[in-house]
Amino acid sequence: MPVITCIDDLKRLHRRRTPKMFYDYAESGSWTEQTFRDNTTDFAQIRLRQRVAVDMSNRTTASTMAGHKVAMPVALAPVGLTGMQRADGEIKAAKAAEKFGVPFTLSTMSICSIEDVREHTKEPFWFQLYVMRDEDFVDNIIARARNAGCSALVLTLDLQILGQRHKDLKNGLSAPPRLTLPVMADLATKWRWGLEMLRTPRRTFRNIVGHAKGVNQMGSLMSWTNEQFDPRLDWDKIARLKEKWGGTLILKGVLDVEDARRAADIGADAIVVSNHGGRQLDGALSAIRVLPSIVRAVGERVEVHFDSGIRSGQDVLKALALGARGTYIGRAYIHGLGAMGEAGVTRALEVIHKELDVSMALCGRRDVQDLGRDVLLVPEDFEGRWAPA
Ligand SMILES: Cc1cc2nc3c(=O)[nH]c(=O)nc-3n(C[C@H](O)[C@H](O)[C@H](O)COP(=O)(O)O)c2cc1C
Repeated sequence: MPVITCIDDLKRLHRRRTPKMFYDYAESGSWTEQTFRDNTTDFAQIRLRQRVAVDMSNRTTASTMAGHKVAMPVALAPVGLTGMQRADGEIKAAKAAEKFGVPFTLSTMSICSIEDVREHTKEPFWFQLYVMRDEDFVDNIIARARNAGCSALVLTLDLQILGQRHKDLKNGLSAPPRLTLPVMADLATKWRWGLEMLRTPRRTFRNIVGHAKGVNQMGSLMSWTNEQFDPRLDWDKIARLKEKWGGTLILKGVLDVEDARRAADIGADAIVVSNHGGRQLDGALSAIRVLPSIVRAVGERVEVHFDSGIRSGQDVLKALALGARGTYIGRAYIHGLGAMGEAGVTRALEVIHKELDVSMALCGRRDVQDLGRDVLLVPEDFEGRWAPA
């Protein structure tokens, strides 16, 4: 068993053990990947204030996110095709999250269905919705999430059309993978992945195939997304979906103060400041640079969550100190899953928890809910000075 000390260790194993097509799918951003890179490098610009001679005993990372108790304010973000990183990936990640006491969010574009995950877990999980053109499908999937006892709906707003990721096109991304010569050569070195995949019946988009009209198999993910995702999604429609769902609603993918105000106006329970991990609008600001302005604008009216770029517990600490109530990790746990399955997701959560806990203590704080900007050293021009529009 390799010694895993940080998320980068998991990332290296993920790369070695998972077919290139799926590793690349996770580890890329759109177009030039500028925003993808900025998401992590901007975190590194923020420094921490070391404090001493403070009682560090009895520390706690327990908190709440959207009214749910969490062992630490770090949820697993919705990630499409998780069940291609490792067989039954969504079930494995959900189990790891449940044992750790943090929320798991299941993507619409998952391999394991809502019902598959429900069957293998005890705690309610969260469901992420992409709005499709087919309204019957949307009504039906909301009802399925409700029947499965999902305790929050995470409505993603920043992917009605797909930002281009070059590698996905070059690799011919599909689920299951088409067995071309280069794919077979790659799979020959990833035999454990293949064996596990052969043993599970869950190898395509089980939330969709058999549930959406006329969809019996989905060839290319990209062309299917372009055809089915509803480009007309607007605030009126979001308000109607809120009514339809009737439970906790989290709006994901907000990166602008004006949009944050609209989200607060319609009465969302929480918003997620996110640029989809740099996978959508390349050239947009990193999410961490935008976070403070959104917290200033709506932090009193709506709970603000954060994702995009978190690779350590120190990043979590920085986002919380800048005003986020909760955070999500995407790639950080996907690396764990690709590396070591359920145990890898658990390891990713343990790594992040330890980094958060120890850093918090060294900053002189004992309670994760007591982190404020005063534990940080933020460059004066961190939010950027942009010419007026
Ligand atoms: C491989 C991959 C697939 C994703 N699929 C979805 C998805 O299906 N739905 C969604 O709302 N967000 C999706 N996201 C975005 C994540 O929910 C989250 O916003 C992002 O991963 C955060 O950035 P991080 O990976 O730097 O933590 C995906 C991200 C990745 C890396």
